[in-house]
Amino acid sequence: MLAVDDLVVTYGGRRDPLRAVDGVSLSIRRGETLGIIGESGSGKSTLAAAVAGLTPVTSGRVRIADADGVPTDVPATVGRSGRVQMIFQDPMLALSPSLPVWRSVAEPLAPRSLRVPGRFRARAVELLGRVGLGPEQAERRPAQLSGGQRQRVTIARAVAASAPVVMCDEPVAALDISLQAGVLRLLDEMRAEHDLTYLFISHDMTSIARLADQVGVMYLGRLVEVGPVRAVLGEPRHPYTQALISAVPSVARAGRGRERTLLPGEIPDARRPPSGCRFRTRCPFAQPRCAREAPTLSADSTDGADEHRTACHFWPQIRNGRATPFTAA
Ligand SMILES: Nc1ncnc2c1ncn2[C@@H]1O[C@H](COP(=O)(O)OP(=O)(O)OP(=O)(O)O)[C@@H](O)[C@H]1O
Ligand code: SF4
Ligand SMILES: [Mg+2]
Repeated sequence: MLAVDDLVVTYGGRRDPLRAVDGVSLSIRRGETLGIIGESGSGKSTLAAAVAGLTPVTSGRVRIADADGVPTDVPATVGRSGRVQMIFQDPMLALSPSLPVWRSVAEPLAPRSLRVPGRFRARAVELLGRVGLGPEQAERRPAQLSGGQRQRVTIARAVAASAPVVMCDEPVAALDISLQAGVLRLLDEMRAEHDLTYLFISHDMTSIARLADQVGVMYLGRLVEVGPVRAVLGEPRHPYTQALISAVPSVARAGRGRERTLLPGEIPDARRPPSGCRFRTRCPFAQPRCAREAPTLSADSTDGADEHRTACHFWPQIRNGRATPFTAA
């Protein structure tokens, strides 16, 4: 299990700070995948990097279940003391360009060792075999493999590290479309085989629908909606999620006959976010209250039975058709 409590990540100096992640709380059950969606610049990569200990955190906690299943604070070191691995869009970031790829896979098994013991080499080659690369390919440098093969190497490396939690930041976005499905399938198989917990960032709603158990939607550093994948993608409650999903016909069609909503305007400057609800400058349902008061994530019921939570003052009215858009989208 991974629990993130009120995480804040600030870039820049004190004079002009940018809160790229501004009070995000989430939890992912062991062995499950939380998909994260949101426009470019909403803070998805920053969230993943902060959880992986690659970006300093301004405040907040990250907890991971220990061997007894008890959520325990993990220090903000790189990789959170070996508890979190990261798979990037660009696999080259995780691989040594001058070494055969098996060495990069063996590295988490024998960190900083110049001579890799034979058993670790054998384990690295075995893991590469599991992701579809033979012993001959294990001897190649990263540049001698295709993009899809390189990403398979980083997946083998993440498994070698035995970290229970893996951040996947657009892991297939740079791959040829014909290779994407195979790499996604492999990621999912590895999750099931090794009981891994994933935070999976993607612009591709179809991959999210296929892989994720839960989905979180980010806007300007905040989580605006979170819940089971079927609920969030099929019955989105937040006007921002509704607009994002309506732009993807294959996913929108799965929900109930929804009109395509265009998102007006650009995402505002993250250094100067709007007061109250950050989405209000683009929201067709915005009311005066939205400028005064920031909505918090809330569910349909107070007893905790509803896992689907939304940060919008007016979502019940919007859902029931009692709120009418008054700015033409
Ligand atoms: N190293 C940095 N220094 C300063 N600002 C940064 C840095 N990295 C990201 N930002 C800013 O933080 C905000 C969040 O960026 P982030 O990369 O986390 O977004 P993202 O949701 O991953 O976007 P994308 O979908 O384009 O990958 C943006 O406003 C971005 O400009
Ligand atoms: S709180 Fe107001 S501005 Fe924000 S999404 Fe809801 S209706 Fe729109
Ligand atoms: Mg990103």
